[in-house]
Amino acid sequence: MSKSITLDEVKQHNSADSAWVAIKGNVYDVTEFLDDHPGGRKILLKNSGTDATSKFVNYHPDYVLKEVAPKFKIGTLADGDSKL
Ligand code: HEM
Repeated sequence: MSKSITLDEVKQHNSADSAWVAIKGNVYDVTEFLDDHPGGRKILLKNSGTDATSKFVNYHPDYVLKEVAPKFKIGTLADGDSKL
């Protein structure tokens, strides 16, 4: 079962040492991906510690969530915290 993670917990992971981001109800640890992100390290780090769903859907074609993001998934956003 996927671990349930609150948005408050996500918010604490907003640095290059530990960067988490919530997108469409899932939580991703992108710490190891910062330097590899095709959109750049800066923007990904800036949005770490947040629910970046609306920004994410603006910038990425569908394949990213299906094929690239899953390897960074660490859990799902706790009920009530998810924007979907
Ligand atoms: C799990 C999290 C994320 C993953 C796996 C991811 C992955 C990717 C990939 C694979 C691309 C290249 C897409 C393509 O054109 O084929 C990309 C581009 C980009 N990403 Fe992300 N991304 C993530 C989160 C974010 C976040 C939170 C932002 C914040 C706004 C962001 C902003 C961008 C931007 C601006 C581009 C460049 C778009 C362009 O040049 O057209 N990404 N990302």
